[in-house]
Amino acid sequence: MQLENDLYSFDKKLLIKAGDLIDRGTLKNIAGLSEHIRYVQIKDTQLMNDLIQAFKDKRYSNIFWPPETNLKIISYMRRVTMPEKVLSELAHMKKISPYTYHHILMIAILTAKISLDNSLKNKYSPDMTIRLSLFHDLGKSRIPLRILNKRLPLTREERLILHTHPLIGYILLHYYFGKDHKKYDFSSFQHHERLDGSGYPLGIKGLNKYSHLIGIVDTLDALISERPYRKKPFTLRAAIDFLSDESEKGRFLKGLVRILIRYARKEAPGAKLIIGARGRDKEPAGNSYGKTAAS
Ligand SMILES: [Fe+2]
Ligand SMILES: [Fe+2]
Repeated sequence: MQLENDLYSFDKKLLIKAGDLIDRGTLKNIAGLSEHIRYVQIKDTQLMNDLIQAFKDKRYSNIFWPPETNLKIISYMRRVTMPEKVLSELAHMKKISPYTYHHILMIAILTAKISLDNSLKNKYSPDMTIRLSLFHDLGKSRIPLRILNKRLPLTREERLILHTHPLIGYILLHYYFGKDHKKYDFSSFQHHERLDGSGYPLGIKGLNKYSHLIGIVDTLDALISERPYRKKPFTLRAAIDFLSDESEKGRFLKGLVRILIRYARKEAPGAKLIIGARGRDKEPAGNSYGKTAAS
């Protein structure tokens, strides 16, 4: 694996030169570059304020319910710590791509909500899902803004560049976490992999359970967001239908998709039937999500 551009850390250390081979040895050296890592609690930061604001996202009003669960998620968030430099990366992301930043916050809330679901019997730790979600798209900050914020469909070349973000984030996490990198680096590296091997960057089937959870909600958020490659976003209902179809194809765990179906259906204020066996919402015209590799 190689990168097209030199990769620098937030504190301006050259981690990898363009074209250099990236192998285990290189990654080990990068993890060894980090000296003292200062961890900060996010509870008193702007990130925490932004996370709380993100619960107001109307697209998710059916899912972010009831309020007691939201408060529980917030109390887990307040306990999260992360390296100061990762916090700086996220603040930088907010500046250069508010859209990507908001997306990252939504993924953290959604994965935390699922991890607290009774049906999963503590299979996922909420602290871990929040942390890993906040790191999953770190690599996007190094994608040229003409590509990251482009409003028109991406060319094949641009898409290939965008698809380097899991690798870039993986490398950055080696540096930011030093010897602890293994606890976190997969969240970036594997979140676009799928259980049937149809994902990227490696096309592996045996992925980490947290990466898989992030991958599902990442897809949901991508579908209901404005994206350059389709005229309008999916409705929540159409998006969840799409996830169901993907789980039928063996890409996503059915049990996790079923939890999202349940949230969208039963926990809505007024409990309107949103997902039914019949009368599915159609995907928006001109959609190419899932037909070409998704971002
Ligand atoms: Fe991503
Ligand atoms: Fe993402």
